Amino acid sequence: MPRLDLLIAHNLGLSRGQVTRAVRAGRVQTPEGEPLRDPGLKIAPSALPQMVIFAHEPLVLRVRYHLLQHKPVGVVTALRDDRHRTAYELVRGAPLGRDLRAVGRLDLDTSGLLLWTTEGALLHRLTHPRYAVRRTYQAALTGPWRAPPPELELDDGHRPEILDLRPLAAEEVHPGLQVPEGTGALASITIASGKFHEVRRIFAALGAEVLGLCRVSFGPLELPRDLAAGEHREIDLHALFAGTLHPAPLAAGEAPDEAPPDPLLEDE
Ligand code: URA
Repeated sequence: MPRLDLLIAHNLGLSRGQVTRAVRAGRVQTPEGEPLRDPGLKIAPSALPQMVIFAHEPLVLRVRYHLLQHKPVGVVTALRDDRHRTAYELVRGAPLGRDLRAVGRLDLDTSGLLLWTTEGALLHRLTHPRYAVRRTYQAALTGPWRAPPPELELDDGHRPEILDLRPLAAEEVHPGLQVPEGTGALASITIASGKFHEVRRIFAALGAEVLGLCRVSFGPLELPRDLAAGEHREIDLHALFAGTLHPAPLAAGEAPDEAPPDPLLEDE
């Protein structure tokens, strides 16, 4: 069960020693102003997030945090980058921002739904091919595309699993999709994997070039139409994915999933 001192250190990026001194000096209190003087006080996970007062300021104690970002075009999915602004710069001020990591990647020129989480085991499951989380993209294309052959193979030998591919009606276009001049067709495509430039390479193999690309859903999550590019909001990934992450059977010779067990998901 999490301890008070470790939780405060985790949430504020302080050392345990700094927190212990603050607790002993009575600088950590309940919201009612009662001093909490035991640094080792156990706090039940079910009681989190929980508010305390730390050095006269309210502080919400958490063990994890997840958010959904509307990644804009023109930022890279990275923690730091020498040439471009990063998607991380837009979320690092969130609670537990130091520990947030992106769930997969979107290209510099792709906008749309990007999840961030502080939990490594959950991140692993959401991105691992065995769990085949469905992703839907809207694309602005140079023109019509050919129907995919049954065994479509990309330049690196990858065989994309296209679950849905259809023309997109103008009234369905998400506000997050940029439709540049010269667009000759609009498409919606759903795939079950997240290989490098996968959607761009699928359309290239089908005879069309992607001019604008926006991820509009990931698993059961949709990019809210009222979430402007660059904004984000807190979500509860465990609740939203509960019961949906089922691993596919291992193929011959395939290594088993090595993510540490996640107690919350093990309960499914
Ligand atoms: N496929 C792409 O080509 N680019 C992305 O950003 C995501 C999927």
